[in-house]
This record gives sequence, C-alpha cells and structure tokens, in this order.
Amino acid sequence: MKNVILIGFMGTGKTEIGRELAQLKGLKLIDVDTEIERLEKMSINDIFKYFGEEKFRAVETEMIEKVSREENVIISTGGGAVLKQQNMDTLKKTGIVICLMATPETILKRTGNSDERPLLKVEKPLEKINELLQFRMPYYEQADIMINTEEKSPLQIAEEIIDKIRNMK
Ligand code: S3P
Repeated sequence: MKNVILIGFMGTGKTEIGRELAQLKGLKLIDVDTEIERLEKMSINDIFKYFGEEKFRAVETEMIEKVSREENVIISTGGGAVLKQQNMDTLKKTGIVICLMATPETILKRTGNSDERPLLKVEKPLEKINELLQFRMPYYEQADIMINTEEKSPLQIAEEIIDKIRNMK
C-alpha cells in the first residue's frame, strides 16, 4: 500500500485525523513537525524565533525526504510544506496526497487558543489566515483528494478518506 499524506492549512485537523486514520488502518502515523522538534530538540516556535522561517523550511524539506522513504505509513505535514515544489514532488511520489480544508473562521477558532503557531502570532490573525490561505490555495489544490472538514468528527473524516481512496482504484 502507498503512504497516505495529509496536507492542509494550520487548524484543519491534520494531526488528529492522521491519528484516527492510523488507528483505523493499523498503520504508523508520522507527524513531520513532531519529528522536526525531536531532531532539533526544540519547539517549532523556538526554531522560528532563534533561526527564522528559512531555517525551519530547510529542516522541513530534509525531514519530508526522510519520512517519505518509509512505506505503509500515514504522514501528517505542516501547513506550509506545500510551498516548495520539491516537497510536493517527494510526497506525491510516495503516496496519495489528501488536503484537508476549513473556512478561515473555523481555522481561527481551532488555532485561536494555541500559542504554537508562530505565523499566526499577529495582531489580526483572521486577516493573516485569509491572506495565507488565498496565497496557498493553488498549492493545496495539487492534492489528489480535497476534503472539507466542516462539521464532521475526525472519525467521520478518516472514514471519508478511506472511502475516497478505495474509489480511486
Ligand atoms: C506552518 C504550519 C505549522 C508548522 C509551522 C509553519 C505553516 O504546522 O509547520 O508553524 O506555514 O502553515 P501545522 O499546520 O501542523 O500547524
């Protein structure tokens, strides 16, 4: 079986839905951000703060290369991983890419009380979300399957993903 790769904006539920998918399919979940934090022994926040976004993106690309060598796994990526074509090419080669979607308002609600997203630590986070989403949409649309996550539980979404993958074959 090919890998299943979750992409999508911050707060679209990639990690949670990845967990659900892994459990349903009995597969391992690899969360790229968690692996980066483990490798660097530092939070994503601190990597941004002390080394900047450019350094983070370089480590992210290396980590995507590394985890893409695994087989039969669910891979959950950070929301900006799609911005580099090299990352998308690597991910698409090893598996089926699923993009999770949500409205800017839902994204704000889901990310609002977390301090863990350096890119959203701004005065007007909803404006920032809108701006980033608009810019990133063409990148997210490179996915094989797009899934709307509004008003569905992680389990329902995971089941929908499994169904859609089955129908692709
Ligand atoms: C980012 C998303 C984050 C994390 C980093 C940058 C982005 O991951 O990789 O803060 O550029 O959208 P999540 O999508 O898991 O929050």
